Amino acid sequence: MFFCTLKITMKVKPIYIFLTLSVMGLLFTLANTPKISAYEMLEEQSQSSNDDYNMMMDVLTHQRCMNCHPSDNIPKQGDDSHPHYFGMARGKDDHGFEATNCNTCHQSENNLNSGVPGAPHWALAPASMAWEGLTRQEIAERLLDKNTNGNRSHEELVEHMTEDDLVLWAWEPGIRANGEQRTLPPVSKEDFKKAVENWFANGAVIPSK
Ligand code: HEC
Ligand code: HEC
Repeated sequence: MFFCTLKITMKVKPIYIFLTLSVMGLLFTLANTPKISAYEMLEEQSQSSNDDYNMMMDVLTHQRCMNCHPSDNIPKQGDDSHPHYFGMARGKDDHGFEATNCNTCHQSENNLNSGVPGAPHWALAPASMAWEGLTRQEIAERLLDKNTNGNRSHEELVEHMTEDDLVLWAWEPGIRANGEQRTLPPVSKEDFKKAVENWFANGAVIPSK
């Protein structure tokens, strides 16, 4: 029996051995190649873009940002976003009125004694940048629209959101007039910056729902 098998093997032409080895080699290579199709790669990419978007939006919709981006010309205060005391409103240039200019009270840094928050160029966001009451998708559309975003390119939006004093203030908001610490956005400053940079780098795609 053994002799017989050997004899058959001996009779196999070298070309068949070569072919068999080649096929085995090919199968081995295929088995070890990670099986990610182009479709799956796109899926993965858009999933991470959606994660960046959600993280960015968790911040934009937080009171520390929203209180200054109202839809009704009235700045809001606190985590309950109540209307600003003393009947404060937009005024003609987003800085309040002559007698009650924002910067009469709001200085370039937080006043930890009086509880007045502060950062350079403190003012209400222009009416075109009102986000209050909008869905995340609507906020994102408005954010990207040069007619409403202060004529900013994607690069300028990234720069604004990662460097502007009013944006960064949200992570050092100081103490309220009643002595309580103001709450921080739910995402760290570093993670927010990364999410913003990545979302724009991946084309600033707004998820459809
Ligand atoms: C008369 C002084 C005064 C003026 C003028 C004033 N503010 Fe304030 N503002 C305060 C005080 C005090 C607080 C803190 C209230 C608290 O936290 O209890 C405050 C809080 C705020 C907050 C809340 C921040 C947060 O997230 O809780 C915003 C936003 C704000 N002011 C915007 C404005 C804008 C915009 C203007 C100008 C249109 C303005 N303020 C004018 C005194 C003033
Ligand atoms: C004290 C008020 C204030 C706070 C707090 C504030 N903003 Fe703004 N925001 C402004 C003003 C004023 C402008 C307009 C500045 C300009 O056009 O140069 C603005 C403009 C912007 C813009 C420009 C484009 C657009 O479409 O709105 C973005 C983006 C933005 N803010 C994001 C944020 C984020 C994110 C936060 C919170 C982390 C925040 N802002 C907190 C006042 C504020």
